[in-house]
This record gives sequence, C-alpha cells and structure tokens, in this order.
Amino acid sequence: MQKDISPFIFGRKAIGESFTDREAETAHLVANFRNRVNTVLISPRRWGKSSLVKKAGDLAQSPKLKVIYLDAFTMRDATDFYTSLANAVLKTTYSTLEGWIEQAKRFFTRITPRFSFGNDPMNSLELSFELEAISKNYEEILSLPEKVAIEKGIHFVICIDEFQNTSLFSEHSLFHKRLRSVWQDQQHVTYCIYGSKQHMMISLFEKQSMPFYRFGETIHLGKISLADWVLYIEKQFEKTAKTITPYYAEAIAKNVNCHSYYVQQLAHLVWQRTQNAVDDEIITSAVEDLINQNELLYLRDTEMLSETQLNFLIALASGVSDGFSRKDILQKYKLGSSANVSRIKTALIEKEMIDLSGRTITFLDPAYALWFVKRMLKKETFL
Ligand SMILES: Nc1ncnc2c1ncn2[C@@H]1O[C@H](COP(=O)(O)OP(=O)(O)OP(=O)(O)O)[C@@H](O)[C@H]1O
Ligand SMILES: [Mg+2]
Repeated sequence: MQKDISPFIFGRKAIGESFTDREAETAHLVANFRNRVNTVLISPRRWGKSSLVKKAGDLAQSPKLKVIYLDAFTMRDATDFYTSLANAVLKTTYSTLEGWIEQAKRFFTRITPRFSFGNDPMNSLELSFELEAISKNYEEILSLPEKVAIEKGIHFVICIDEFQNTSLFSEHSLFHKRLRSVWQDQQHVTYCIYGSKQHMMISLFEKQSMPFYRFGETIHLGKISLADWVLYIEKQFEKTAKTITPYYAEAIAKNVNCHSYYVQQLAHLVWQRTQNAVDDEIITSAVEDLINQNELLYLRDTEMLSETQLNFLIALASGVSDGFSRKDILQKYKLGSSANVSRIKTALIEKEMIDLSGRTITFLDPAYALWFVKRMLKKETFL
C-alpha cells in the first residue's frame, strides 16, 4: 500500500483490504449461493450490503456457478429491467460477438431482439426489445437464465441491488407477480435481492399479501462490531506508517455508532490530519469537519420536521432511547399523547431518520446525530 494515499474507502464498495470482518455473513451468503437458496438482504443505507454481496459473489463464483450483478437503481421501468437481465446473462455466458448474437436469436423465438453497437462492438453491444413485445412475452426473457443454465450445465446466481427501486415502476405489482411466478419454478438460477429503504424492502418481502412473501431467506444485516473496527483502523494506520492508539480508534467508531460508511469517512479525516500520531485535537477537528460537510442537508431535513417530530428528536438526542410514552417524558419534551408518539415514530421511520431495533430507537444517520447534538442541543459530542 502506498503510504501517502488514504487507506480508508467510502462511497465505493469496500473491496480487498478495505473490506473488514463480516466473516460469518460472507460464509452464509456463499453457502446460500452454492446451495441455491434465494436470499433477501436488508439493512439501512450504507451499512455494507453491496460490498458484502460482491465479496460473497466473487468467492462463490466458479466455472459452474456464474454470478451476475444488476443494479435496479438506474432502471426506470420494467423494460429496463428485462433488457439489463437479458444483456447480462448473454454477456456473462458467451464470449464472442457472433456467439452472443446467434444465441440471442436462438433463445428468443417469440420476441425479436434488436442489436446495436458502437466503435468497440464486443464491449458496446447492446440488445434491446420493443416495448409492446415485452409485455406479451416477458416470460421468454425471464426464463432466459434458466434455459441458458440448463444448456450450458451451469448455475446462475443473479444479484439485484437496490431492488426496492422496482416498486417505483408503473404497474409494479403486476411486474413483481410476473417475476415471482417465473422465478419460483427455476431450478438453475438463484436470486439474491438487496436494497436500502428498509420499509419498502420489508413490505415487499415480509408482508403476507405481497408476491415475494417467503421468497427466500431474509437476512437483516447488522453492524460491524466495535472491536473489529478498532483492529481495522489500527491496521490501516500502521500500513501507512502512522500510529493510532486503541483509545482513539475506538473514539472514531463510537462517535459514528459503528456505521460502516461513516467509520471509514471519519477514519479518513483523522488519518488526513495525522502526521505521526493521533491526539484529541485531531479527533475533534475531524468530527467537526464531518458535521460541516453535510450541514446544509441537515438543516433542510430538520426544517421539514413538524414541531413534535423535532421535540422527539431532541428527546432522543438527550439520551431517551425508549419509554417515550412515559408521562414525565411526554411532558418534559412536549410530545403530546402516547398515541401521538407512535405516529411520530412511524413518520420518522418512514423518513429514514430513526431506526427501531427491538424497543431501542437510534438516529439512523450517526453524523446527523452528531450535528443535532452539537447544533440543536449546543453540547460537545465527542470523547
Ligand atoms: N465490510 C466492510 N469493511 C469495511 N468497510 C465497509 C464494509 N462494508 C461497507 N463498508 C463501508 O461502508 C460504505 C458503504 O458500503 P456499501 O456501499 O457496501 O453499503 P450499502 O449498504 O450497499 O449502501 P447503500 O445503502 O448506499 O446501497 C463503503 O463505501 C465502505 O466505506
Ligand atoms: Mg448498496
């Protein structure tokens, strides 16, 4: 590792040496991929879903087991979805341009694909379909992976990131029913579906009335532990010939509540300020920087809150984590009735501002929590 380049990564998938811990989760996913168990992976934003699936997929990959990654984030409608699926399956399986086109023509009998390519045909070849043809013959596209897998004697694992985005497609219920009806009969294709927006994912996969109910194993991804973060931060500092004591490594992880993205970002800000060794001042200034970077966003989010929602967050930031409906708490923080508290909770969960785990409530975004304590409560937050 180069000593003058930050050893911390954020905003991109954590890979290689930037990927830490998650050994049990990785092994579990690899086993699901090999044992053909469909998996649904859910967590709040930026806890590490995409990084984990990539790691497990790359480990599980073999000549007999091909892993395909799709990202529904950029898809606008079902047509985009079908097109991406068909392109990915064919590109993963056939290595020559001719093979690709020939197979596409052979596999699609009721639907006629169009081909287009730019200057570098092998890398820019794209297949597309007429909108109308798709709605009648969607099954032909959805069963493509199964057919190819059987013919080639292989197995596919299809990983679909940001799947909740498909709930924004027009006629999404019909679309989901179609997927489910074709997917459930496939023997040679396993799906791994993951996404943020927890309440959308949960309602898609855990509500009895929804088409994906009991589609596969649902995993709620947890956080990387404090102990693991401390070791990781120390190791990354060491590699670049800088020193951090366990005390300060712990301070970094604790300040942002072990949230994967923010631990890496705060560690980076601390690393950047460190000549040789970390001290109090460096941590304080790095945290301040983290808060300032998003101040405008936080102000806007806070302005959009109702008065009682704001009061609720003030209570949370002041240390109340459950028992919001207790009489003294209702009065002290002006929360209204206990029925009102449950409405506030629902609204804040939907806005993705708080997270409920068991009975304990926390801020979903730990950097917002730091900002809130410092600016709204005017208290020092760190160390
Ligand atoms: N296993 C890990 N080890 C170290 N850092 C990690 C790990 N997983 C995630 N991170 C950190 O968290 C950030 C977000 O990770 P990732 O994009 O995988 O999360 P996500 O849950 O898919 O996020 P989003 O909700 O935005 O899709 C990464 O950029 C990286 O900084
Ligand atoms: Mg992701």
